[in-house]
Amino acid sequence: MRLDKYMTAAGVLSRKECAQAVKRGRIFVDGLPAAKADMQIEPSQIITLDGAPVVYREFTYIMMHKPQGVVSATDDPGERTVLDLLPEHLRRQSLFPCGRLDKNTTGFVLLTSDGVLSHRVLAPKRHAEKVYHFTVKFPLSEDDVKTLEGGVVLSADSYAEEWKTAPCRVIADENRLGGEIVLTEGKYHQIKRMMEAVHNQITSLARVSFCGIDLDPNLQPGEWRYLTEEEETRLKKCAE
Ligand code: URA
Repeated sequence: MRLDKYMTAAGVLSRKECAQAVKRGRIFVDGLPAAKADMQIEPSQIITLDGAPVVYREFTYIMMHKPQGVVSATDDPGERTVLDLLPEHLRRQSLFPCGRLDKNTTGFVLLTSDGVLSHRVLAPKRHAEKVYHFTVKFPLSEDDVKTLEGGVVLSADSYAEEWKTAPCRVIADENRLGGEIVLTEGKYHQIKRMMEAVHNQITSLARVSFCGIDLDPNLQPGEWRYLTEEEETRLKKCAE
């Protein structure tokens, strides 16, 4: 494999940056300064950038804090997508969002190049947990909470069929105007439609956890980071 392709695939440098890094002597291959950005390297060789090993990974897993107004898509003419928030070299890595958040929903979006894992994690039978914080227009009664937890019928519209939601957990805040909801499925506009089923209306929605991985509180809306090894292990468990 070419060195510059390796660096791009590892998500550390673009090809242009790699060429500059080689010129500046920042990259070593098996302890020797890299000669050229397009030199051939073997997976067994040890590559370092500024003294730190660069580990090639087959797939990339990114945690993003999606801001409002951005769509969970790879391409949507006229809209800003989650991929637009990534640096150029990552945009070239065939990443896509694993599942969708609505345009005005904020929070955790997983971006990956691992299609098999994404498919598995989203499969309804895996019951992967998604935790959301929400606010609503009218106070939620105890009965509303029980109804939501037991499952409600979402009426069909032009985008989705009629659907009885699976049992879920809802914890209302003291003021009853918000709370936390934990879902194990992901139907189109699910939480908005669930609140409509109890004659209420979502006023804000944020996903704070996905597959047992919490959104990093240090990530501001629009920011991202790679999953840690521990988070990656958790994600893979979720896909088993
Ligand atoms: N439910 C919704 O209604 N919207 C989302 O973005 C996620 C879950």
